[in-house]
Amino acid sequence: GIEPIPQRPALPLVGHAFSVPSGADGLLHVMKEAKELGPLFRLRIFGNDINFISGLDLVTELADETRFRKNVHPDLVVLRAIGGDGLFTAFNDEPNWRKAHDILMPAFSLGAMRGYHATMLKVARELIGKWDRAAGTEPVDVAADMTRLTFDTIGLCGFGFDFESFGREEAHPFVTSLSRALGFAQEKGESIPGTEIFKWRQAEQFRGDVTLMQGLVDDVIRQRRASGDQSTDDLLGRMLHTRDAVTGEPLDDVNIRHQAITFLIAGHETTSGALSFALYYLTKHPEVLARAQAEVDALWGDTDAPEPDYADIGKLTYIRQVLNEGLRLWPTAPVYAVEPLEDTVIGGKYAVRKGESLLVLIPQLHRDPAWGENVELFDPDRFLPEREDARPVHLFKPFGNGERACIGRQFALHEATLVLALLIHRYRLIDHTNYQLKIKQSLTLKPDEFTLDLARRTAAE
Ligand code: HEM
Repeated sequence: GIEPIPQRPALPLVGHAFSVPSGADGLLHVMKEAKELGPLFRLRIFGNDINFISGLDLVTELADETRFRKNVHPDLVVLRAIGGDGLFTAFNDEPNWRKAHDILMPAFSLGAMRGYHATMLKVARELIGKWDRAAGTEPVDVAADMTRLTFDTIGLCGFGFDFESFGREEAHPFVTSLSRALGFAQEKGESIPGTEIFKWRQAEQFRGDVTLMQGLVDDVIRQRRASGDQSTDDLLGRMLHTRDAVTGEPLDDVNIRHQAITFLIAGHETTSGALSFALYYLTKHPEVLARAQAEVDALWGDTDAPEPDYADIGKLTYIRQVLNEGLRLWPTAPVYAVEPLEDTVIGGKYAVRKGESLLVLIPQLHRDPAWGENVELFDPDRFLPEREDARPVHLFKPFGNGERACIGRQFALHEATLVLALLIHRYRLIDHTNYQLKIKQSLTLKPDEFTLDLARRTAAE
C-alpha cells in the first residue's frame, strides 16, 4: 500500500521553515534529519513541499531517465537571473539546451583535455609563484587561492582570456560579484515569502552584480569577435563559429552570453572547493599525504621544476583517489534534483506527482551504509580500482545524473589532479591554526577560513 512520506509534525502556514537554520547549517541540519527520518523525508516550507532523498536504492531508482528528468528546483530558478537558459539552469524543454550541449560536447572530450593541459600548467605555476613567496613568511588562504587558480584556468582554457587573479590583492570583481549574488540567491530561496520587499537594497546590489558579470562577459565576447579569430579550439570559439547539426543554426548572441557566464561560474566554483577539501584532508591525514607524496616523487623525483606532461595525469591514481574521497565526504555541489515524468510511486510505497522536486542530498548518499562502516572516515582506499569495480553505480554521484550530469567533470579532474600533485610535491602543509573544519555554503561548499603555513620540502622529507 501507499504510505505517507516521513516528516516531522509541521506548524500551520510556515511548516518546518523555522526549524531549518540558514546556509551551511541548513545542509548539516537536513543531513541529520536524513539520518533520523530515513532515505526519503519531506520538509514543508511555507506550503512548498521539499523531498530529500539520500538512500542508495531510491537514488538508483531516480537515476532511470525513462521515469525521471532534471528538475530546475527553486534555487536554480533564482539563478536564472544570472545564467538564463545556459546549460546549468535551462529547463528541459528549452531548445537551446540540446543545441548548446551538442555544440559544446566536443570541447570536453578527452582529446580536448590534451589541448588544455599546457594552459592548466601555466596557471598552476602562477599559484606556485605566489605560494613560494608566502612559504616561511605568511599563511595562505587556501580557498581564495584555489578560486584564483580555477577562475583563471576556465578563463584561459574556455575563453582565451586572462583574468590575472594572481596579480591582484583582492579577488577579481567578477568573483566578488558572483559570491555576493550567490549569497543573495541562497537567502532569497530561504526567506519568508513576501519579505523580499524589505530587501530592496540587497536586490539592487544583486542587479548591479549581475550587470557587472554580464558586462565582463560581453567584453570577453567583443574582444574575440574584434580579433577576427575564427578558430573553434575553445568554448568561446565553438559557440561563435560552429553550427548545430540538427538545425544548422549557430547559438544566438543572448544564449552565448548565458553560456559564457554559466561556464565562468560552473567552471571554477566547485573545482576550487574540491581542491580546498582535498588539501584540508591531506593536512589532517599525514599517512595519506605521505602516500600521495610518494606517488608524485616516483614520477618527478626531487626536481625543483617538474614538467608534468598530459600522460602523467593518468598515472597519478592515488591523487585521484584523494580527490574522489574528498568529493565523497563533501561533494561541492551538494544537491541535484529530479522530477517524475508522470505521477508515480517510488520506493514501492511513496506516491509522488509529475514535476515534483525530488532533491538528492549527495553528502548523505555518500554516507549510505553501502559505503561500509565508519563512513565519516577519510579513506582514499575506498577508491582503489578493484573496490570501485565492486561499488554500486549510483553510490557516488558528485557530478549529478544522466544527460544533465556535469559536462565539465573531466576538465575538473584533470585540473585538480595536476594542481594537487604539484602542490604536495613542493610543499609541506603546516596546520598552524589547528584548523577545525567549518563549511561555508553559497550554493557550493568550501572549507571556511582554512589557512595553511607552507614550507618548501627538502629532498629528505
Ligand atoms: C552540471 C558538479 C566542475 C560545468 C553539474 C551538476 C553537478 C556538477 C552535480 C548537475 C547539476 C544538476 O543536476 O542540477 C560539479 C563538480 C565539479 C564540477 C562537483 C568539480 C569538482 C565543472 C566544470 C565545468 C562544469 C569544471 C566547466 C568547465 C557544468 C555545466 C553543467 C554542470 C555546464 C550543466 C550541464 C547540463 O545540464 O547540461 N556539475 N561540476 N562543472 N557542470 Fe559541473
